[in-house]
Amino acid sequence: MKNILTASLEWVDARFPLSKMWNEHLAQYYAPKNFNFWYYFGSLALVLLIMQIFTGIFLAGNYKPDAALAFGSVEYIMRDVNYGWLIRYMHSTGASFFFLFIYLHMFRALLYGSYKKPRELIWLIGMLIYVCLMAESFLGYLLPWGQMSYWGAQVIISLFGAIPVIGEELAVWVRGDYVIGDTTLNRFFAYHVVLVPIILLALAVVHIIALHEVGSNNPDGIDIKKHKDPKTGIPLDGIPFHPYYTVKDIVGIVVFLIFFSIIIFYMPEFHGYFLEYNNFVPADPMKTPAHIEPSWYFTPFYAILRAVPDKFLGVIAMGAAIVVLFFLPWLDRSPVRSIRYKGWIFKTALALFVISFFGLAYLGMNAPTPLRTDFARLFSAIYFGFFLLMPWYSKLDKTKPVPERVTDR
Ligand code: HEM
Repeated sequence: MKNILTASLEWVDARFPLSKMWNEHLAQYYAPKNFNFWYYFGSLALVLLIMQIFTGIFLAGNYKPDAALAFGSVEYIMRDVNYGWLIRYMHSTGASFFFLFIYLHMFRALLYGSYKKPRELIWLIGMLIYVCLMAESFLGYLLPWGQMSYWGAQVIISLFGAIPVIGEELAVWVRGDYVIGDTTLNRFFAYHVVLVPIILLALAVVHIIALHEVGSNNPDGIDIKKHKDPKTGIPLDGIPFHPYYTVKDIVGIVVFLIFFSIIIFYMPEFHGYFLEYNNFVPADPMKTPAHIEPSWYFTPFYAILRAVPDKFLGVIAMGAAIVVLFFLPWLDRSPVRSIRYKGWIFKTALALFVISFFGLAYLGMNAPTPLRTDFARLFSAIYFGFFLLMPWYSKLDKTKPVPERVTDR
């Protein structure tokens, strides 16, 4: 007699391609066998996306999107709701980890040229995800209705006001009022819990479908489909994603959960980086905090904004710093994908870029001084130089020959 599970699966398979999808995307998806540390962050980003959605649903169950009640409802979640503090800390710490993983995930693409042909679309979809993620965290940050929520939103929305002619009206349209108020909070709540999560989820699915269409890149940047077993047609340097990489990814998840728990249980504010101290004070439109700074993951772009003396040009520079990333697949003209086979020019450029990115992040977190502004300008110049000069120096760079098969066998 057929096992009831097998019979049920056959029943479903006759009506929906469940086994087909399982095989296509997991059991018979052949991924390069040389994935390393840098390949943990895609699956971790996925875990974070799901975790944010679930903890968010529970928070929304007790939160009140009303300017008079929002701050108090968050305090209520923290003190009275069963395990409310845990859910909230998971959500707030999760936001920072999500960005951390996304930055590492993007850096991996930079290291191994994962954005290069034929993976341009994966990169472009990834960039859309990144922009949506920034919008998502900006919207969510207003919800606790603390001082930093209020004044952070005030600074960013006022940037719209810097746009000539339509700026002021645009800012009023975004706020739904002449000042940030109840209307703003209400609509930000709707976008944060419904609109942007749906877009993020859809983009993540499309991202993975696009990846599985062309196949994963690897630390050697080699096309594993070039060498297939003549009988089976399976890439010689490929291994089935399941069980090999599902198990590897579980290791990553366990290690992440250890660090995540330590932060949640022992340092949930993480020295003011994950939850800013000023946000434990209720929003007060009459009292501007002495020092307004965005969350750490925005600070490199905030530093670029402040490095430009003119507000409107600063907004343009900040926008351009993100837009330029979209063009990366066409800026890199190197004949090889992976950093392993690139020459000293690219490696030096990348090292300077990393230093500048961290430098900008630091400067964006601290109040400007004349010396800091000089550094912000220097680092901004290097940031843009890295991308805009890439078509030239990536071609000039002397590359090493790329092996036919993956090297870590
Ligand atoms: C919700 C956010 C995201 C999720 C859940 C996600 C998920 C994934 C997963 C599971 C993979 C395959 C495993 C891996 O390569 O680590 C992947 C690959 C990739 N992702 Fe993402 N990703 C996200 C955001 C981004 C962003 C923001 C970018 C870049 C702007 C990006 C660029 C790429 C690229 C280029 C690959 C191919 C890597 C390779 O084959 O070497 N992703 N992503």
